[in-house]
Amino acid sequence: MVSLVTGGAGFIGSHLCELLREKGDFVLVLDDFSTGRRDNLEKLAEDPEVQLVEGTILDQGLVNSLVQQADRVFHLAAAVGVKLVVQRPLHTANVNLLGTHHVLEAAATSGTPVLIASSSEAYGNQAAQRFQESTPSVLGPVQEMRWIYGLTKLADEYLARAYAAERGLRVVSARFFNTTGPRQTGRYGMVVPRFVQAALAGEPLTVFGDGSQVRCFCHVKDTAQAVTMLLDTPHCLGHVFNIGSTESVTIEQLAETVIEMTGSSSRIEHIPYEQAYGVGIQDIRFRIPDISRLREATGFEPKHSLRDILADVIAYYQEHGCEG
Ligand SMILES: NC(=O)c1ccc[n+]([C@@H]2O[C@H](COP(=O)([O-])OP(=O)(O)OC[C@H]3O[C@@H](n4cnc5c(N)ncnc54)[C@H](O)[C@@H]3O)[C@@H](O)[C@H]2O)c1
Repeated sequence: MVSLVTGGAGFIGSHLCELLREKGDFVLVLDDFSTGRRDNLEKLAEDPEVQLVEGTILDQGLVNSLVQQADRVFHLAAAVGVKLVVQRPLHTANVNLLGTHHVLEAAATSGTPVLIASSSEAYGNQAAQRFQESTPSVLGPVQEMRWIYGLTKLADEYLARAYAAERGLRVVSARFFNTTGPRQTGRYGMVVPRFVQAALAGEPLTVFGDGSQVRCFCHVKDTAQAVTMLLDTPHCLGHVFNIGSTESVTIEQLAETVIEMTGSSSRIEHIPYEQAYGVGIQDIRFRIPDISRLREATGFEPKHSLRDILADVIAYYQEHGCEG
């Protein structure tokens, strides 16, 4: 089985590549190293069953030739992270819309099944506490650029459905909720690596807003497992699935737990979103996935608790040092 992973040098992609190798797949990686890193694939560097191609999903010819060599495609490449998205909205739209269009076009032409990585952000500015795949998406105001990311992910899902309907594409959309773990960078605003690095350095943990936002963090290894289960299960094709953990925590509690687990003397500071991102952005109170559809279809169950995840991230930054 040849699996193509776009964005395979990224945080989730690199863990997915390792899992696919454990399962015996030949793994083709396409990545432009914009937010991904060669080091993320360090464990697979000498593996002859892994081929790393540096290039962009914006290159339709390259995407076509790689998809033709693959038996299945995991499409994870995207512009990611609130900070990057608000600073580079045009780049975000190009990569997430045009790039995904290229991947879907290539997969439809060669008859290759594909999983596309969508996001809980596709629910947009929806005030629900728990999100089911049938929960309507609510568009955020166009003045707030942060919503462009969710909009591109939702548009990708519609595009996938259009390709399925008109070109017979076998495609599944996976809505990732907060995924975290070793190798996630804090550079683009991701909260767990930011908190852990600050705690290890004895610096303040900066909470954006009042800290009462509720999130569920899923270990990247659990997310990678769910992703492979979805493409391994033929009746999942044609559908949308939430992927995530259902263990909820407020951001304030998360900061307190990181301080406790690292034994840090750091304190917690609160700053407004405007100060954090340079523009006022509206955050959502709750991001809790309902994963019953995924459970029923694949038998998936997250195996790692929040404390397991934090222990792994702390160990990672203790071993690798914090980001500059
Ligand atoms: N981490 C999360 O909590 C989360 C939540 C929801 C959705 N997602 C989705 O999961 C996927 C992976 O995200 P991640 O957290 O691993 O982030 P990441 O930034 O580590 O991974 C994205 C990868 O795509 C690559 N990439 C970006 N533009 C590219 C292009 N034009 N051509 C080729 N490669 C390109 C980057 O270099 C990087 O390796 C993304 O599609 C993201 O939208 C992640």
